[in-house]
Amino acid sequence: MENFSGGVWRKQFWCVIFASFIFSFFLFYLDWSTIVRNEDVVQLSIKDYVYSIMGISPHPNSQLDRENWVEPMSQSPINTNRPERIRNISVSDNHEDFKRVLVNNSDDGIGDIEMDLDNIVEEGSDPCLGRYVYVHKLPSQFNSDILKDCRRLFPWTNMCHSLSNGGLGPQIENSEVFPRKGWFATDHFALDVIFHNRMKQYKCLTTNSSLASAIYVPFYAGFDIGRYLWGFNRSIRDSTSHDVMKWLTSRPEWKALGGGDHFLLAGRVTWDFRRVTDKDSDWGNNLMVVPPAKNMSMLVIESSPWHSNDFAIPYPTYFHPSTDSEVFQWQKKMRRVKKRYLFSFAGAPRPNQPGSIRSQLINQCQASKKCKLLECDKGGDICHSPSGIMKLFQNSVFCLQPPGDSYTRRSAFDSILAGCIPVFFHPGSAYTQYIWHLPRNYTKYSVFIPENDIRNGKVNIEWTLNRIPKEDVKAMRKEVVNLIPKLIYADPRSRLETLEDAFDIAVKGVIQRTNGLRQKLHGRVSTTTCKEEDSWKCNLFGTREEREWDQFFSIAKDVNS
Ligand SMILES: *[C@@H]1O[C@H](CO)[C@@H](O)[C@H](O)[C@H]1NC(C)=O
Ligand SMILES: *[C@@H]1O[C@H](CO)[C@@H](O)[C@H](O)[C@H]1NC(C)=O
Ligand SMILES: *[C@@H]1O[C@H](CO)[C@@H](O)[C@H](O)[C@H]1NC(C)=O
Ligand SMILES: *[C@@H]1O[C@H](CO)[C@@H](O)[C@H](O)[C@H]1NC(C)=O
Ligand SMILES: *[C@@H]1O[C@H](CO)[C@@H](O)[C@H](O)[C@H]1NC(C)=O
Ligand SMILES: *[C@@H]1O[C@H](CO)[C@@H](O)[C@H](O)[C@H]1NC(C)=O
Repeated sequence: MENFSGGVWRKQFWCVIFASFIFSFFLFYLDWSTIVRNEDVVQLSIKDYVYSIMGISPHPNSQLDRENWVEPMSQSPINTNRPERIRNISVSDNHEDFKRVLVNNSDDGIGDIEMDLDNIVEEGSDPCLGRYVYVHKLPSQFNSDILKDCRRLFPWTNMCHSLSNGGLGPQIENSEVFPRKGWFATDHFALDVIFHNRMKQYKCLTTNSSLASAIYVPFYAGFDIGRYLWGFNRSIRDSTSHDVMKWLTSRPEWKALGGGDHFLLAGRVTWDFRRVTDKDSDWGNNLMVVPPAKNMSMLVIESSPWHSNDFAIPYPTYFHPSTDSEVFQWQKKMRRVKKRYLFSFAGAPRPNQPGSIRSQLINQCQASKKCKLLECDKGGDICHSPSGIMKLFQNSVFCLQPPGDSYTRRSAFDSILAGCIPVFFHPGSAYTQYIWHLPRNYTKYSVFIPENDIRNGKVNIEWTLNRIPKEDVKAMRKEVVNLIPKLIYADPRSRLETLEDAFDIAVKGVIQRTNGLRQKLHGRVSTTTCKEEDSWKCNLFGTREEREWDQFFSIAKDVNS
């Protein structure tokens, strides 16, 4: 339940990220565009209208908790010494101007164009129009061969178990907490394969790429780098993704939009793919910073606030239903469950991380009779058990979700799944990340306490949460439970009847983006300009005017912390 993709390097890689971003600050200006509705083209026939809007040719016929993690970096001879390097960084990252279409979203994420389409296709044409996805037939070295290597996918655990059941992991049986079906001990980095398998169930696949709105590249980028993050030199870390890009850019499908309609999923945090320099000691590979990647949409479980080519989608949780009714039953149960604790926290402190508020949270929790603490550094087995975690969250009204090694945690999704209202301390932990999946109005489903107020000792959490009116808590809880279907990944071996899961919403988001790009090429959009480093703001608010959250994403603060 914890994001454990490294420990001490967290501060270090932030520094690198910030340094690169300072450079980018001056160098790169983006062209953000906003889609506008086009009343003036509606005189075309509906079909022509859709085709022209989409810019496509006419259709012929129509893991488990890892809080007890040993800091991996201390074992690695490579990837150290980051901070000293900051001011001396050379930006090998050869940014070009990056064109991006920003969709002016409605409150609930999925925006205007998609809504238009829904209305139009109901009138009888091909229901997949504007939704087709073409899946690249990649050589097996980029996906299935990587799985054969499952013992090596992650240096400290054998991932072979986690890859069973189409990537869902072993089924959880004989548990009092879960119903008999639909629950798995899913690894939080297993999304590469879950997503790919889920794609096989997508209703609008096409084998004709010129009909496709988006082109999926089934490269297991997360598994690939997982093998090499610790103790391998840069050329090894980069080699597979380099080969993938070489393969992609040589294909005719690439030429149509310069890769603008291509997307891939990397089931890890973006920082594992954003090495800026060519030094072996820097973290990760350079998958997301090479020029072809900048044209693509990269789906990750945590995106960068300062880059425009990555998009965050939910971490996988333990629940993978195969029918709608499994979801409804779980929601019903979560609506009714009685809560014993006002709030709870499951996690470990970050003693090596200056600025981490976790120890303060733990102190506050220990001092409160209404808080339940699960100290994951004290060797509690319960932190490793899906049922232990889910039971705690089910029993709590609020669940504290501070940043860990990076902004986000899988725990936030476990908490929503258990009907527990998440309490965030940094907007980068959810609000600026999962813009396709979570409501823009975050007060509907969560509580925000700025981390500085915790650091300065200004806020007593128990008091703050207690003070929220009962009616509001009830409304939030209701909203949290309503969110569940959108945040889970259905069992890829079957298909939900009516519900849209996290996968469906992610694909919608990608398609909306690529369709928007085509619109832009057809000159049908008005444009606003956004700098790439303002991505978080533009994604969320549509403009880059000053916001109260600027401080959370400013350079000075993080470099000092
Ligand atoms: C793919 O679709 C395009 C546009 O409709 C069509 O011209 C082409 O013949 C199709 N290709 C195949 C192999 O069906
Ligand atoms: C940059 O690094 C080089 C060696 O890597 C060092 O000699 C030089 O002093 C550094 N410059 C700054 C400004 O830190
Ligand atoms: C990287 O490591 C591999 C194997 O360990 C080695 O063959 C290769 O020469 C190294 N490359 C560089 C640039 O050091
Ligand atoms: C990225 O897209 C732009 C604009 O479509 C195109 O000019 C450029 O060649 C593309 N880059 C690559 C590496 O294909
Ligand atoms: C956000 O949601 C809250 C609670 O539902 C509501 O009171 C508030 O007016 C909403 N804010 C906006 C900007 O819609
Ligand atoms: C987005 O749409 C809203 C209303 O639909 C409008 O008020 C706002 O100005 C738009 N934002 C941009 C950046 O166009």
